[in-house]
Amino acid sequence: MKKILVVNGPNLNMLGIREKEIYGSKNYKALKRYIKNEAKKRGLKVKLFQSNHEGEIVYKIQKAYKRFDGIIINAGAYTHTSIAILDALKAVNIRTVEVHLSDINSREEFRKHSFISLFAEKTICGLGFEGYKEALDILK
Ligand code: DQA
Repeated sequence: MKKILVVNGPNLNMLGIREKEIYGSKNYKALKRYIKNEAKKRGLKVKLFQSNHEGEIVYKIQKAYKRFDGIIINAGAYTHTSIAILDALKAVNIRTVEVHLSDINSREEFRKHSFISLFAEKTICGLGFEGYKEALDILK
């Protein structure tokens, strides 16, 4: 059974509260339930992790070395700033798919650049929760 690590970055724990017109009204608990359910349907073992701290995310990715077959990451705002997260992904060299709930290309200019996409084999954005399902399909 393939093991997938799902990493959600800062403020994703605020889903259902934050900018509902952009991120929708469902909360983080609903997202977790959705991902677990979709993973189960595909026969994938999934581990979910959320953190608001860059270093914790780096550490979690490092710990994934030789333990996971794939990573799905929505690094939140760190997407646009974090060379450290990019380097951690490069270091462990695990297949990675980047997900964003919103369409980062049709928002502010600063959201158009993603450090994560320099390593991720695919970036899925603007599909809401379904983006995670697509990412599972790519990695399964
Ligand atoms: C996000 C997009 C980012 O620009 C933003 O900082 C987030 C969420 C998304 O899922 O659409 O926190 O990654």
